[in-house]
Amino acid sequence: MSSPGRLLLLLLLLLAPALVGPSSLPQLHTPERKATIAGLILPALERATVFLEERLPELNLDGVVGFQVLQVQLKGVQEAWAGDPQLRPLSQRMGRLSKKLGILLRKSIPYLKLSDPAYLREFQPTIQWGFWKLPHAWTRTNASMVYPTFETEDSFSEEHSDMCLVQLLGTGTNSSRPCGLSDSCRTLMTRAGCSGYCLSHQLLYFLSAAMLGCTEGLFAQSQHYMHLFCANMMDLNRRAEAVGYPYPTRDLFMENIMLCGIGGFADFYKLRWLEVLLSWQKREEGCFGRPDEEFPRGTPYPQQGLRRVKRREKEFTDGCSAHNTAMAAGALGGFLYVLVEQPPARVKPPEASSSRQTGPRMPPGRRGQPL
Ligand SMILES: *[C@@H]1O[C@H](CO)[C@@H](O)[C@H](O)[C@H]1NC(C)=O
Ligand SMILES: *[C@@H]1O[C@H](CO)[C@@H](O)[C@H](O)[C@H]1NC(C)=O
Repeated sequence: MSSPGRLLLLLLLLLAPALVGPSSLPQLHTPERKATIAGLILPALERATVFLEERLPELNLDGVVGFQVLQVQLKGVQEAWAGDPQLRPLSQRMGRLSKKLGILLRKSIPYLKLSDPAYLREFQPTIQWGFWKLPHAWTRTNASMVYPTFETEDSFSEEHSDMCLVQLLGTGTNSSRPCGLSDSCRTLMTRAGCSGYCLSHQLLYFLSAAMLGCTEGLFAQSQHYMHLFCANMMDLNRRAEAVGYPYPTRDLFMENIMLCGIGGFADFYKLRWLEVLLSWQKREEGCFGRPDEEFPRGTPYPQQGLRRVKRREKEFTDGCSAHNTAMAAGALGGFLYVLVEQPPARVKPPEASSSRQTGPRMPPGRRGQPL
């Protein structure tokens, strides 16, 4: 671990007494503690936004979408904290960052139009204000839904997955109405056993359906599929953690936190995961990407079974990855938003511990309702 990482760990350990034991649970919600954690996350997000600003002309849509998620999250925290005298300065700082992001996101459109007009037309809704909605209730993943085995990822086609999303968004040349679904998309998006980007795209699909308010037919079961996929994405994230987060696993690790987090699965917001995310940011560039110390620049890294399916990934010569940075922005923004109700899940989790308190359990009636 780098020395900034150690410092952070130390800081978190100093704060840890507030996290130990059910008796001290009320302390978890103190404004001081929320302010401390937000004070760690906000500077990282400000630096990531500088990266967005500096590379805006070169970014692709997939490198921008996480910042749209972030803007929504910032706005949510800003509004929730505006009335609290202790949190108001942070709230105002988030307001400024959110405003800056709004301007940058609008400025990105002409560049995206230049570089890939068709892709922009199809996916523009996902970078527009109003698409991403914050969870109004929190839930947790259910480990008993994890697949007994994962299948190999080879049969997953990003083109097919994109086509299904376009039908859903209603942005194709044929369709102008959202919530479209073909038989082949039903099969692809409900297939059991997916891992990696296949799995995260399946979740993105049902998450998007919920964001769009699609509730008919298959989409009446969106909550069920989101539970199924996020349980498995949690399992994959734990596996990435168990092997020490080798670089090729990090992008997906952050994507899983961003997507399941905004889907309302609060157990993705673990304090120790926040710590590793913050430690991955490149100090100088503010971006996320290939770690200097592990992989000398320009050296290809082994894929280790994680086929990179993001066609539109962009890696800069300094090792910054547009997609990594966008996923980190959306994931870190979620760590901020979850503070509105609660701090991230505690450092050392006994998984089934009753002392874990990560927010209101989803009331039974919420199943099947849009987000
Ligand atoms: C978890 O999933 C299993 C299997 O689908 C189900 O029987 C159980 O009720 C679920 N537990 C919770 C807490 O939702
Ligand atoms: C558009 O519609 C035509 C005719 O119905 C069909 O053959 C084609 O596959 C559709 N294209 C897409 C992208 O859905």
